[in-house]
Amino acid sequence: MKKSETDLSKGIRALPSFPVVLVTVGRNIMTAGAFHFYSFAPPSVMIGIVPKRYTYELINEYNEFGINIPKADQTELVRVCGSLSGREVADKYEEAGVTPMRSSVIRSYLIEECPLNIECEVVHRVDFPGTHQWYVGAIRAVHIDEDFERDQALMFWSGEYRRVGEFLEYALKRPPTDASTT
Ligand SMILES: Cc1cc2nc3c(=O)[nH]c(=O)nc-3n(C[C@H](O)[C@H](O)[C@H](O)COP(=O)(O)O)c2cc1C
Repeated sequence: MKKSETDLSKGIRALPSFPVVLVTVGRNIMTAGAFHFYSFAPPSVMIGIVPKRYTYELINEYNEFGINIPKADQTELVRVCGSLSGREVADKYEEAGVTPMRSSVIRSYLIEECPLNIECEVVHRVDFPGTHQWYVGAIRAVHIDEDFERDQALMFWSGEYRRVGEFLEYALKRPPTDASTT
């Protein structure tokens, strides 16, 4: 292995892919790669939004967001929601050809055609300046297609979409349970 010290931003670009999600607030949809699991208890996730996005205005107004997981064959939906602003188009659901689905708890819509929808209430804003404003969302409801498998999700980073790779082995040499924290 021959290593060289490199630019700080190259260290970020060289990271492996992350799941790409569709964030819904009110009746708007935004593509986001800045998404991560936060905690098992209370169940929560986090999302990073650039302050110039329309979604930034909406999330501060609604104090909630929906996370909709697209499948690897939904790249067109992801492209449309990641290239048009809700400030420019009347209805991104119509523009992207998807159906608004009523949430159980939050006021915002979810995307019917996505196999996994997670309803979140904003419980914390990360107070550290950066390109993205990070929000922690406590999960209030989850809707899942019973045929959905995690490796059908779409991965993204550094300008590329990818599929989830092959299964290698169990992290702890045994199948995880619902109570696992790894
Ligand atoms: C693959 C992909 C990932 C993106 N990830 C993010 C992200 O994590 N955070 C963000 O603020 N914008 C991200 N964007 C850009 C927004 O999706 C895009 O600017 C969108 O048009 C904003 O919509 P809005 O103005 O209706 O909120 C991403 C775009 C693409 C295509």
